[in-house]
Amino acid sequence: MPQYRICHSPRLTGEVRISTAKNAVLPILAAALLTQEEVIIHQTPALTDVRHMLDILRSCGAEVEAEETDARVRCLAAGDPEDHALLRTMRASVLILGPLAARKGECSLTMPGGCAIGQRPIDLHLKGLQKLGAKVEQEGGTVRVSGALKGANVYLDFPSVGATENLMMAATLAKGVTRIENAAKEPEIVDLCHFLTMMGARIAGAGTANIIIEGVERLHGAEYTPIPDRIEAGTLACAAALTEGGVLLERARTDHMRALLFKLSESGVICQEDERGLRLRGKARHPMEVRTLSYPGFPTDMQAPLMVVAAQTHGLSVFLETIFENRYMHVVELNRMGAQIRVEGQLALIQGGRALTGAHVSATDLRAAAALMLAGLVAQGETILSDPVGHLMRGYEGLEDKLRLLGAETEKLSEGAMNQE
Ligand code: UD1
Repeated sequence: MPQYRICHSPRLTGEVRISTAKNAVLPILAAALLTQEEVIIHQTPALTDVRHMLDILRSCGAEVEAEETDARVRCLAAGDPEDHALLRTMRASVLILGPLAARKGECSLTMPGGCAIGQRPIDLHLKGLQKLGAKVEQEGGTVRVSGALKGANVYLDFPSVGATENLMMAATLAKGVTRIENAAKEPEIVDLCHFLTMMGARIAGAGTANIIIEGVERLHGAEYTPIPDRIEAGTLACAAALTEGGVLLERARTDHMRALLFKLSESGVICQEDERGLRLRGKARHPMEVRTLSYPGFPTDMQAPLMVVAAQTHGLSVFLETIFENRYMHVVELNRMGAQIRVEGQLALIQGGRALTGAHVSATDLRAAAALMLAGLVAQGETILSDPVGHLMRGYEGLEDKLRLLGAETEKLSEGAMNQE
């Protein structure tokens, strides 16, 4: 099992380069199934989720080559994925549903299960595909989608990121015009739209609540570098804010991070954008009120890391998690380290200013793991973070190495198994 040692660390200083966004790369790789031609994705991050997605594409019949940080995918004939266990390792495996339904007119997939942070159903994905004319059948944990897709108006009851991506991909090859209303507006949706457009898709409105897609006969190959990871950048920004650091996050896109930067600035951190990325100076001192929302609201993926910062300010901070029903699992571990946080339903009340002490803690999900690593930076003594299923490696490209580059005392003690979500 992967384990990390984190020691009380000095002020973080220096520069670190932000990796490419996991949540942008995964749908873009799935989109490679929409064409027979070669797709090349540059600067793919070394993450287990990305490796799993490449394996899923192979399992659908694609030829995949990973050379340094380039991923080359060519899918001459798309088939149903053969490796069902692989699909269950990762929630984002559902992103191949839209491309396969569009390309083949039918596909069967093992449905992804729930996960630690919530049930995460895929009803919105399936309802949307039904609106596009597909027949959807579910039996014994498998979903089968069949029938030619036709453009339609789809209203999402909730602006789901994954459903918007799946439907946008499906609609690129559907006959006629599709309108997705109440679509998600995340930067990763816009990035997927840029990539699909390079493949020959006709899409307008990505980044707004109304996306219009005019179906085309076929898509062609493309070469693309996806956007930098706003959540990795945000996590490192929180690390700087915790330790009164002075850091440059090279390549960070501040325009994708407004909600977080607003909170950090209000709390006393100086956040400056320049041509190289994001510079942060100073310490978060004032308590904060945070409500997670769909983009451009405050991202649920930053809730756990920012809570560690809030726990080190003076006063009472109030967090409200509205996106996932079980995303406060880091709280128990933070309290074991000396934090004083009370959870009542969707609310977390954080009484700041308590000194943290190092402890043996365990990672329950990806962002909880990152939050506990940050807590270790300001805790007295040594923190040992156990990550039984390798959450950190799923979504952060060497977070412990990047923190060490900035002067933190962090190291990976052991490698180990991974999977889940
Ligand atoms: C994506 C991100 C994840 C982020 C989340 C919210 C990827 C690979 N993952 O996940 O890091 O935390 O957005 O910003 O991009 N829901 C339904 N039915 C559906 C789909 C979703 O009820 O069919 C619910 C979910 O259970 C959840 C909420 O909608 O409560 C948001 O989910 P969604 O936006 O779909 O998140 P993901 O795409 O899974």
